[in-house]
Amino acid sequence: MARLSVVIGTAAMLVLLLVVDTSGRPSDIGLFFGRVHPTVVHFPIALLIVAGLTELLAWRGVFAESKLAKATAPILFLAAWSAIVAAVAGLYLAQAGGYDASTFAWHQRLGVVIAVLAAFAYVWRSRVESTVSGGYLAVVGLLIVLVGITGHLGGTLTHGEGYLTRYAPDGIRRVLGEPPKSALSDSPIDDPSTATVFDTMVRPVFESKCESCHGAAVRKGGFRLDTPEEIIDGGEDGRAVVPGRSDESDLVRRLWLPATDRKHMPPMHRPQVTPAEAEMIRWWIDAGASFDLLVADAEPDPAISLIFESWEMEALPEGVFALNVSDPDTVALAELQAAGMSASLIAEGSPFLQLRCPDADACLTAAQVAALDKLADQVIWMDLGRTTVDDDAVAALAGLPHLTRLHLEQTAVTDAGVSALRGMQYLEYLNLYGTGVTDATFELLDTLPALTAVYLWQTPVTAEAAEAFRAGHPDVHVNLGAGAE
Ligand code: HEC
Repeated sequence: MARLSVVIGTAAMLVLLLVVDTSGRPSDIGLFFGRVHPTVVHFPIALLIVAGLTELLAWRGVFAESKLAKATAPILFLAAWSAIVAAVAGLYLAQAGGYDASTFAWHQRLGVVIAVLAAFAYVWRSRVESTVSGGYLAVVGLLIVLVGITGHLGGTLTHGEGYLTRYAPDGIRRVLGEPPKSALSDSPIDDPSTATVFDTMVRPVFESKCESCHGAAVRKGGFRLDTPEEIIDGGEDGRAVVPGRSDESDLVRRLWLPATDRKHMPPMHRPQVTPAEAEMIRWWIDAGASFDLLVADAEPDPAISLIFESWEMEALPEGVFALNVSDPDTVALAELQAAGMSASLIAEGSPFLQLRCPDADACLTAAQVAALDKLADQVIWMDLGRTTVDDDAVAALAGLPHLTRLHLEQTAVTDAGVSALRGMQYLEYLNLYGTGVTDATFELLDTLPALTAVYLWQTPVTAEAAEAFRAGHPDVHVNLGAGAE
């Protein structure tokens, strides 16, 4: 009976492989079933390895008479059936598309061969009662080798090329014909005069956060991010990058969608792009999505000039980055986060912090301010925009001497609150749009020596006062909103 079921199952699978159309639009139920493939596929893998081990032990005379040897046939039965289910599920999963055709074709072929061979091995094994022949053992050995190869191809389809070997010792990488790790391109800027914006700032984000799904081996949405041509060509939905127009670029739209949106990139539970990286990519597209633009020639707009500086800080430390500041106190950081403020380093290896209030109603609370006190030297970017902070709360910012970038847009802050910023030596970027600040604010702005950009649209500030301030501060970008300049 069991033997018959395996034979029928294998035959049915082979028929299905011929009739299921993998090129058409997948149905929800098909994809639902298809997505069990990565889980189910581990059953035949484990079972075939166990079968191989029990046969090996039986063949060497260990446990030969024991029940273990008798277990091989049932194990192979389960292996054959789970391989059949996994192969059929894989067929449905493939309808989702986006895989490198040749890697996928080999993974599929070998997967089917494994299912058929496992069924064959089971039928063979259940006929021979005690001694096993060399031919049969060769089939089991072959099965295990195939499981290794097919599993590796499956890993490449899921995680992208080079996933397994990325962190392998150079000796192993050499044997596999891959360049040494030091040649991979996440090295810092060596020479700022020849470094391009794309290579130093954009490409590393694509490589680390996108290429596992949009590279040579996996092409989700038919979109690749590993070569300039492919980035510009776009995917199934057309062009994802429109040079000069970040507002029309699907790639940018997806980065800024809420993380729970189905179209958000990278998908939920994958390493996310930081706000600084997303702003960087947006600026790069607005600046023409050029692959040759040099960092040295780029004129970053004020909104991202700090990001530029943080990238360049090791090469050309300036302003706050030239200060010798110790790493943030980890206990204080934990306290701050426990109090509901989100904090992250602005760049790996940097002591400086960027802060945000994920809960708009709990921003600059007493507990947060207490923790901030111990991190005063490290905090340089703060995003308090669209929160319920008011003048009283903002007074706490006076204790943060290194603040360079501050978002207060769309809050209840007025001139009184902003006066906490008086004389801040490093403050470069100040966003006050949609607040209650008035012309009196220019008197405060006058005390900020490093100021390069201030955003004042939708405030009571008058165009005349802004004009007067601009005249005295030609280097400061005073933004009063569209039409007001
Ligand atoms: C875990 C896999 C995964 C990662 C990582 C990922 N994506 Fe995607 N991406 C997908 C899938 C699946 C689709 C197709 C479904 C869709 O359109 O939402 C897609 C589609 C897209 C598209 C639309 C392509 C088209 O024309 O249909 C863009 C643009 C995109 N991704 C950009 C990105 C960027 C930029 C990153 C990195 C910051 C990224 N993705 C990371 C899985 C991923």
